[in-house]
Amino acid sequence: MCGIVGYIGNREAYPMLIKGLKRLEYRGYDSAGAALINQNGELSVYKTKGKVSDLEAFCQDKDISGSVGIAHTRWATHGEPSSLNAHPHYSESKNLAIIHNGIIENYADLKKKLISDGVHFRSDTDTEVIVQLIEYIQTKKNVDLLTAVRLALHQLIGAYAIALLDKREKNQIIAARKQSPLVIGIGDNEFFLGSDATPIIEYTDKVVYLDDDNVAVMRLGEELKVVNNMNHEMSPEVRTLDMNLGQIEKGGYPHFMLKEIFEQPECLENCMRGRVNVDANKVMLSAVIDYKKQLLNAKRIIIVACGTSWHAGLIGKQIIESFCRIPVEVEYASEFRYRNPVINSGDVIIAVSQSGETADTLAAVKLAKENGAFVFGICNAIGSSIPRATDTGSYIHVGPEIGVASTKAFTGQVTVLVMLALALAKEKGTITDELYASVVKELSGIPEKIKKMLELNDRISELSRTFTYAHNFLYLGRGYNYPVALEGALKLKEISYIHAEGYPAAEMKHGPIALIDSDMPVVVVAPHDEMYKKVLSNIQEIKARRGKIFALVSKGDDTISKIADEVIEMPETLECLEPLIASIPLQLLAYHVAVCKGKDVDQPRNLAKSVTVE
Ligand code: M6R
Repeated sequence: MCGIVGYIGNREAYPMLIKGLKRLEYRGYDSAGAALINQNGELSVYKTKGKVSDLEAFCQDKDISGSVGIAHTRWATHGEPSSLNAHPHYSESKNLAIIHNGIIENYADLKKKLISDGVHFRSDTDTEVIVQLIEYIQTKKNVDLLTAVRLALHQLIGAYAIALLDKREKNQIIAARKQSPLVIGIGDNEFFLGSDATPIIEYTDKVVYLDDDNVAVMRLGEELKVVNNMNHEMSPEVRTLDMNLGQIEKGGYPHFMLKEIFEQPECLENCMRGRVNVDANKVMLSAVIDYKKQLLNAKRIIIVACGTSWHAGLIGKQIIESFCRIPVEVEYASEFRYRNPVINSGDVIIAVSQSGETADTLAAVKLAKENGAFVFGICNAIGSSIPRATDTGSYIHVGPEIGVASTKAFTGQVTVLVMLALALAKEKGTITDELYASVVKELSGIPEKIKKMLELNDRISELSRTFTYAHNFLYLGRGYNYPVALEGALKLKEISYIHAEGYPAAEMKHGPIALIDSDMPVVVVAPHDEMYKKVLSNIQEIKARRGKIFALVSKGDDTISKIADEVIEMPETLECLEPLIASIPLQLLAYHVAVCKGKDVDQPRNLAKSVTVE
């Protein structure tokens, strides 16, 4: 969702702002803009509907000089995507300019009041209300900008990360956050601002993650100043980024998504490094060591997540229940937070989120904590909001995920859930030594098996062409592979815009079978496991109705290969680890179908990478 970039220092701001916006393009957006203060203290705002490249074209003949600036990519919430609604927004006098990520829920009331007091608005956005309110307070109360910002923020209900320029204070940027991410980079007499660290990483590795209800003042020649909303000065923790430029670039791949699919063997090695030790037959998660009591006493676990992370949670449920004998529920965070759930103090909540910024998951975490539950986070983005709001957790360590369609984060999340289940089960004594040893061994060999799947890339690319005609797809799987079917369907619809449904294979007879005809591709995950014979019957039923079958089978399966139209063989593994293998060809299938259809794989329409509004 909306991307924020800012710079104040001695270099020209505009090229850095544009580069920063490009780095944030993956978040998803529909318009872009920038505000700069030049040497004469003139504040200019340039903005346009469309891509960052459209903004560059628009700015070609404009004065883009200045070493202080803010820039933004907007993902429309209030008001259609248009130049008028794009950020930055001026205040009425044009002394101030603001950019904002989030939603102001009481903007209509505030706007009505400001209009009745004679303020004129130019856009339909909730954001313009913030800057007009700040100016209104500044003028009416005759206070400095920081005070006006703080007082205005007191009146806002909702979520925001903002950055603000005042042309009368040309050596200053003010920024603030509540429930929307904001990172400040600290350089040598210069500051950088970003919605995440990607626009900052090439300039400095020293960052401050701003906390909720805090306001930061970045002034040239001064230290970073952070105050809370009561104006008490805070001592922000300066962290060192564990990320490099190579990780956020395409590295020769045509798309980030393909790069991230191919990175999975290495990512899972990183995820397991120092945690899975086959020689010692041991899985160690520091969070489990440090919070053993809270985790082992769990009477119930509730996993909260959205989208792909929710699918990982469904796999985690089966593994934890099977190994640890603790009941696990998996909830959409968006539903959990609003349905007055029963949360007991003995409950453990596991929040799963790649970005660590998903608004609904963050709200679910806060609700769980308010109700006395112990909260464990499984996230990728280091230092993001969810890991900071949870009691403890484990990072998945798969590196920045830029493609909107989540791939390596999914397999990383499943890997951490397997490690968590193993570590807990061992402590609880609910797993046999044989099963524990075989899962530990097999888990450590998964990266090699994924490499085998990736060798099938060309074949999947070729056969994906035969599927581009389809308007609908059905994905089927059972047990551990039912969430794999859901995830495969989500990947396809997200990036190719083909309607796809995931179902537990046995449910097919209860409705979806009516859809099957010769135009309907059905992807079936059918490894040689406990459910094989049942799934085989489903495949026969699809064949009888002339559905096109794309089957994922275990190596050497010569039964399904005679029935299915296309077959992909997978190396055998333990049933609980099958999702880590079976999801790979489904990621590749979605990717290649989308490429064949000429879709924007990394930035699919209407989608945002980090869903920071509910
Ligand atoms: O960052 P999160 O894992 O919390 O994001 C949750 C979903 O928004 C995300 O998984 C989404 O469904 C992806 N686009 C899936 O590819």
